[in-house]
Amino acid sequence: MKNSNTFKKVISHAKEYGFVFQSSEIYDGLSAVYDYGQNGVELKNNIKKYWWDSMVKLNDNIVGIDSAIFMHPTVWKASGHVGAFNDPLIDNKDSKKRYRADVLIEEHREKILVKINKDVAKAQKRFGDSFDKEQFLTTNGRIIARQKKIDKISERYQKALDNGNLHELKQIIIDYGISCPVSGSKNWTDVRQFNLMFDTRLGSLSEDADVIYLRPETAQGIFVNYLNVQKTGRMRLPFGIAQIGKAFRNEIVARQFIFRMREFEQMEMQFFISPGEEDKWFEFWKEKRIKWHLALGFGNDNYRFHDHEKLAHYASAASDIEFNFPIGFKELEGIHSRGDFDLTQHIKFSGKKIQYFDHKINKSYTPYVIETSIGLDRMFLSVLSMAYTEENIGKNNEKRVVLKIPPALAPIKVAVLPLLKKDGLPETAKKIFNEIKFDFNCQYEEKDSIGRRYRRQDAIGTPFCITIDHQTKIDNTVTLRYRDSMKQERLKINEVQRTISEKVLMKNLLN
Ligand code: GAP
Repeated sequence: MKNSNTFKKVISHAKEYGFVFQSSEIYDGLSAVYDYGQNGVELKNNIKKYWWDSMVKLNDNIVGIDSAIFMHPTVWKASGHVGAFNDPLIDNKDSKKRYRADVLIEEHREKILVKINKDVAKAQKRFGDSFDKEQFLTTNGRIIARQKKIDKISERYQKALDNGNLHELKQIIIDYGISCPVSGSKNWTDVRQFNLMFDTRLGSLSEDADVIYLRPETAQGIFVNYLNVQKTGRMRLPFGIAQIGKAFRNEIVARQFIFRMREFEQMEMQFFISPGEEDKWFEFWKEKRIKWHLALGFGNDNYRFHDHEKLAHYASAASDIEFNFPIGFKELEGIHSRGDFDLTQHIKFSGKKIQYFDHKINKSYTPYVIETSIGLDRMFLSVLSMAYTEENIGKNNEKRVVLKIPPALAPIKVAVLPLLKKDGLPETAKKIFNEIKFDFNCQYEEKDSIGRRYRRQDAIGTPFCITIDHQTKIDNTVTLRYRDSMKQERLKINEVQRTISEKVLMKNLLN
């Protein structure tokens, strides 16, 4: 079972095996900023490729771009981020800790739901097969009262968000006795809005230097390039523009490892469509994206959709794909129906005619947009935490930690290992290594016992090991060892390249 204890183990494993390091660690780190190590960067690149191939390579109506992080400051006025990209913050006067008011309320509501689920589980155990969940939920007094409480909170919360009523957000926190997790007190300040964008200055320290922002989403780089791409690529609606790149947010509740970072990467795709087709394409992309996740084989139960109550300022509908992280179900990807909000705003602020001429109806209009937006770092975390497995093996119940990363995403695909450091075995192993290293990431290792080398490869998720032993010299075969089953089989040297290639293909996931 994956839980907060697993989370701690995943974090320390990520560091110990070169996946993720705290940024500027020798200076005690920088909060919510992380570096990817030698194995982390490979895993990250493979996740990017999995996403990019599924979008750009497999769809002839989706193309990619790579826009700059710095953009004209007016972009962020037009997009609404200067005015509305805020979090409602509240401080506890005793602990001096700062929280997002919306998160405090949502977590409180979630706690009540957990209590309901516990009661249901208990009753289910007590009544066995004769248990009627529906009847229990609708007749049990305690459950009804709790559900009523949730509904009431949701109603007030939604209304407060819709009206931007910060006073009411505070009142909900007071009325439901929500206390500070650190001090336990209910001594709260008023709720204030806090803009999440980082700003800096362009050029030297001249007096008239302009304030510019580090982009808080990659999407605007796509919107401002809509015309460039549409015209130069002669794109016809519906078509998409995809991009992978860094985004920056001055997150206040910045905790939970790489789940919520101040500098992170997004993989976003804006799909431009004719107005009126948004419902159809919203459903289309929801389905397509969940299939992409499920293909990794981490189990359907670990994903769920969550429709937004609090819509971002640009969205007319939004649904999250939530993943069962060791810290619970949390947002992994957002699918947003953005209407013509962004392009219309850019028309207004730039004065440029950003439209599409539809030959079918002989008319120009501003396209609507469906967006898919996934955090690369969160995706990385989902893969790492699902892959992390502890097993007891062998007669002595020895513990092994293995990362069961899907082979196509694994940092190293195959380790080439001479059984001993003598008898010409290293020479044969190096010859094999030098032949296959052009095809996929390989590692050559000859230090320590073969068992210890297998464990090290298990710990970084290498799906295959090739071992060169004395029999290799006799019949030109090697041992192929499988990471997950630990099974071994003999394989002809001249079949190594083809056999491994087939097993690590990105196509195996994309199909
Ligand atoms: N363009 C739309 C947009 O940016 P979002 O829901 O704010 O939408 C999209 O962000 C995705 O980016 C999220 O689902 C999440 O995976 C990732 N993300 C957002 N903030 C993040 C943060 N502070 N750290 C890591 N990932 C983040």
